[in-house]
Amino acid sequence: MQHFLDINATDPAALRDMIDSARRMKVARAGRPKGTPDDDQPLAGHMVALIFEKPSTRTRVSFDVGVRQMGGQTMVLSGADMQLGHGETIADTARVLSRYVDLIMIRTFEEQTLLEMAEYADVPVINGLTNRTHPCQIMADILTFEEHRGPIAGKKVVWSGDGNNVFASFAHAAGQFGFDLTFTGPPTLDPEQGFVEEARAKGVTVEIVRDPVKAVSGADLVVTDTWVSMHDPQSARERRHNQLRPYQVNEELMRHAKRDALFMHCLPAHRDDEATSAVMDGPHSVIFDEAENRLHAQKAIMRWCLGV
Ligand code: CP
Ligand code: NVA
Repeated sequence: MQHFLDINATDPAALRDMIDSARRMKVARAGRPKGTPDDDQPLAGHMVALIFEKPSTRTRVSFDVGVRQMGGQTMVLSGADMQLGHGETIADTARVLSRYVDLIMIRTFEEQTLLEMAEYADVPVINGLTNRTHPCQIMADILTFEEHRGPIAGKKVVWSGDGNNVFASFAHAAGQFGFDLTFTGPPTLDPEQGFVEEARAKGVTVEIVRDPVKAVSGADLVVTDTWVSMHDPQSARERRHNQLRPYQVNEELMRHAKRDALFMHCLPAHRDDEATSAVMDGPHSVIFDEAENRLHAQKAIMRWCLGV
């Protein structure tokens, strides 16, 4: 039994196996109707709980469909409807759920909730996003990059915008998959220094460059995300928009990246804020492949967790 809590907490060889397994599963069912089962049914007899304390479209649907394709069953639970949202402890919730289900995926606010769930559950726990990280997303992004451009090792990834939870998982991935990472954004929205230092300690270059044009020079991949995350106070919205506007990914900025650079956004996007529609729907963009690849990457993650 293995938890999938973060990319930096998972062995690089296991991460590589998951990406390769995801790709094989994707190829094996290419062209089939979405609801048809995979030839292999490794989750047959398995019950999976998907817990959401925040909204979700991709995570919710891709986990649900992925489990079903592999022969398992799901239940989607909203945190507010559980006793968890009304004072029951995370530890008790974890111990109870472990008597009913074989795997727990949770999207929550505080990282501590995820860690406590993993500590007290007798079944594997998967991080479906916390305020600090979003590892399933970045596994899908690595799969997407490699499908289009081959190995990500040694490439230059540039993040423009807020140094948020999705950036943090990119920093974890930089260290584990061996790519270089540049952050460009205003100093007030810098990522936690710990994420940057940890990646650097693994031998990759992580730079903070204030000028977005300089930052994207030579980029193989340009990434951005919403300027206001689900855990951010709405009162910060206007200030963040003013601070982040110079970091919008638009066609002019993309012209300074490599000619064949890819553009990614985990979605949901606020079109014409963090990225223009011209870029999102333009030739560099692979945003809908990223969304699809959540399905394939998470199927591989669940198989690894369950050892099936
Ligand atoms: N990218 C992502 O996690 O999307 P959802 O919030 O829709 O799950
Ligand atoms: N940074 C965003 C990602 C959403 C998938 C958030 O946490 O709201």
